[in-house]
Amino acid sequence: MKKIVKNGTIVTASDSYQGDILIENGKIAEIGLNLNEPEAEVINADGLYVFPGGIDPHTHMDMPFGGTVTKDNFETGTVGAAYGGTTTIIDFCLTEKNKPLRHALKKWHEKSEGQAVIDYGFHLQISEINEEVLREIPEVIEEDGVTSFKVFMAYKGVLQADDETLFQTLVKAKESGGLVMVHAENGDVINHLTQRALAEGKTDPIYHALTRPPELEGEATGRAAKLTALADSQLYVVHVTCKEAVEQIAEARSKGFSVYGETCPQYLVLDQSYLEKPDFEGAKYVWSPPLREKFNQEVLWNALKSGELQTIGSDQCSFDFHGQKDLGKGDFTKIPNGGPFVEDRFSVLFSEGVKKGRISLNQFVDMVSTQAAKLFGLFPQKGTIAPGSDADLVLFDPNKERTISAETHHLAVDYSALEGLKVTGEPVSVLLRGEYVIKDKQLVAEPGTGKFIKRAPFYKNSPEKKAASLLRG
Ligand code: URP
Ligand code: ZN
Ligand code: ZN
Repeated sequence: MKKIVKNGTIVTASDSYQGDILIENGKIAEIGLNLNEPEAEVINADGLYVFPGGIDPHTHMDMPFGGTVTKDNFETGTVGAAYGGTTTIIDFCLTEKNKPLRHALKKWHEKSEGQAVIDYGFHLQISEINEEVLREIPEVIEEDGVTSFKVFMAYKGVLQADDETLFQTLVKAKESGGLVMVHAENGDVINHLTQRALAEGKTDPIYHALTRPPELEGEATGRAAKLTALADSQLYVVHVTCKEAVEQIAEARSKGFSVYGETCPQYLVLDQSYLEKPDFEGAKYVWSPPLREKFNQEVLWNALKSGELQTIGSDQCSFDFHGQKDLGKGDFTKIPNGGPFVEDRFSVLFSEGVKKGRISLNQFVDMVSTQAAKLFGLFPQKGTIAPGSDADLVLFDPNKERTISAETHHLAVDYSALEGLKVTGEPVSVLLRGEYVIKDKQLVAEPGTGKFIKRAPFYKNSPEKKAASLLRG
């Protein structure tokens, strides 16, 4: 079945223009003015922006963490994502020590198979390095289409890996075309500070932030960047929150190293004071790294605008306030870390970024879609509007005003950390590979519509490395 999206303003990371889009077999077949195709269903996008579908490179669906499991799974989480204008997520697949990487991948395929309403891929956690892991990394890149690897520098005793593991992962990734991702906080020192706080009777949610100061994010970010330089590899720093970390990324980039950074909507609109809300409400805002002092918001906006940070991830990792976050009443270290942002990532960036004049419309598309596609091996299949690309499209009303609330969101989690935030701009319809997922603000896709997407190795997206590999034959 063919479709034509007519009369919209097409917006990509580089251009904005009036045009029609012909969709055929799930792909964009043609873009032009006054396209005519008698058998095609016409979708009227008059007065709407037509964006490439959002790509959220950072989600945790159906993930065991903090003594419980995230409230949103691949069905509810992707339904929320779709309503919010996201058509692809890349989710973190947790591994187990002494088990093959592919054991973890199998588990994540079982969780997601037949559940998602949008497309998805996986990043693989690397928690240890041994002969088997070193052998498996190139295999999962080439055969399984899993081309990015996450090393946690924090969560001591749970997810944290040591510097040797990080360094060896960087070296192996460079050889085999992987992109290494880090959660950059100094987990050893955080562990010491949290034990000291608890011993002093400091148990409220605010101590989560006070025991994870920005210096420890800056230190870990700088360490990871320097190890990347030493390995001549490539690094993506997830959820950057503060001046200290931005400075380290900017310094590495200014020296020409392949270091990239992501921030998240929560760090752009919320601040540390939210953890002081009474009646344990501060627990709703407990995630890592923590919310920072307000001045950091401007630092992050400037870093996005100048290109020092490239992408926006949601770090969707939702836990109910009642029944999950309250595991940490009387001990902030037991509050499950994470918050629900997959549904609002796109709209918050548009409203707070474009509408408030902080970033341009094209920069917006770059941050919420194109850059993630390029870095994570999805481009040009996804992340743009061009002939041959998947017809993943968001028809977006730029003037619709609404207020974010748990009462109206589509996630399963029982609260919104953005409750009461007024935003301008809302997806009206969302298409995935040419089929409606959201039609006139109603979900029309079944679980299982979304498919696992194999991604390309990192070097294939780097013109220099691609050129070098071609020269080498
Ligand atoms: O607190 C957070 N961010 N939870 C999810 C896991 C992680 O660190 O990304
Ligand atoms: Zn993290
Ligand atoms: Zn995360």
